[in-house]
Amino acid sequence: MSSAAFSLTTLGAAHDRATFNCGSDPLNRYLREQVGQDIRRRVAACFVALSDERRVAGYYTLASTSLILTDLPAATIKKLPRYPTVPAVRMGRLAVDREFKGQGLGGAMLGDALHRAVRTEIAAFAMVVDAKDESAVAFYRHHGFIALPDSPRTLFLPLATVRYL
Ligand SMILES: CC(C)(COP(=O)(O)OP(=O)(O)OC[C@H]1O[C@@H](n2cnc3c(N)ncnc32)[C@H](O)[C@@H]1OP(=O)(O)O)[C@@H](O)C(=O)NCCC(=O)NCCS
Repeated sequence: MSSAAFSLTTLGAAHDRATFNCGSDPLNRYLREQVGQDIRRRVAACFVALSDERRVAGYYTLASTSLILTDLPAATIKKLPRYPTVPAVRMGRLAVDREFKGQGLGGAMLGDALHRAVRTEIAAFAMVVDAKDESAVAFYRHHGFIALPDSPRTLFLPLATVRYL
């Protein structure tokens, strides 16, 4: 296990994505083959964690989205205006290379994503994620995310609760 420090930055052309392996083929393939096109089309932004050897150790993507008000839990709806939807930021993907798992990098990238979502001037009520399996659900719940009542693999975290600015 490495005890490297990581630097978080926007994905750039010089970053080596070829060897990235988080254990999930769709997430590996997305970074290798698809993300560049999504960035060019402005449907996703991608941020990477670089190891001290400049390897891509992890990545995540962010994009604007909206949540249908009536999909949220009743206790949340009560605190919101009666608009049909509320604005949100979607973290479409989050993955850590197998070699770097369990070192706090997934949590650090989630924190970095929340920080970016909170500091933008464009309002968003929450961060939203679609967890790919039960382990991912557990990861997000561990970090305070709340599941939508009728689609438990979609979870949200109100950005007003993010405290570490
Ligand atoms: C989920 C994933 C991003 C976690 O990354 P990681 O770097 O190993 O996690 P970290 O070391 O940063 O863990 C941060 C915290 O989350 C907890 N955690 C990690 N994985 C967890 C899980 N599956 N369930 C519950 N808690 C979990 C850790 O115990 C740690 O807790 P602490 O801060 O209280 O000590 C990583 O395992 C991964 O890339 N998985 C494959 C892709 C994936 O499932 N992505 C999720 C989005 S669909």
